[in-house]
Amino acid sequence: MSSGEISKASLKPLLSAETIHRRVGELALEISKDYTPDGCVVLSVLKGAFMFTADLIRHLQVPLELDFIRVQSYGNRMSTSGEVALIKDVEIDLSGKDVLIVDDIVETGYTQAFMLRHLAMFRPRSVKICALLWKKALLRVEVPVHFHGFTIGPEFIVGYGIDYAERFRELPDIYTVQER
Ligand code: PRP
Repeated sequence: MSSGEISKASLKPLLSAETIHRRVGELALEISKDYTPDGCVVLSVLKGAFMFTADLIRHLQVPLELDFIRVQSYGNRMSTSGEVALIKDVEIDLSGKDVLIVDDIVETGYTQAFMLRHLAMFRPRSVKICALLWKKALLRVEVPVHFHGFTIGPEFIVGYGIDYAERFRELPDIYTVQER
């Protein structure tokens, strides 16, 4: 399927903005209770996590530093290439710090497995993973997902930061894509 074949009409609502925002608030509380008053470094995985990160950090009740990393494995495809490319690295010093990776979705787990290996070289004190969505059935490598918003099925999804061929990231709700 090419992006040209997907119109807004072929998207089926899965999670409304209201449902997402309620759950993001709950997650922020859960995360805040888990960290000490020293807080954490929130490391947002671009591009998909930009909207989730912006909402989540507004509700976190611990001090935080924010940084972004950009990795990519899907490109314009609907399935992962299995190879994770580092496009933009972390900029702040993670040494001795508690790092919270924030991603929009864990699917095969390849991205987070890469993240854990990659971040280890910066010698953080701890690394935890927070994903808004978790496609548990598609996991191919074991990664610890410490915090997650929703467990969802294997359908391809878009919206709330998540794209298909760079489209639909701006949508406030999350949709499944109906193949025609
Ligand atoms: C997506 C998503 C996650 C990753 C999850 O990123 O944002 O980072 O895939 O998949 P996995 O568990 O199978 O590795 P993508 O490579 O599409 O880049 P993007 O965030 O820039 O869209």
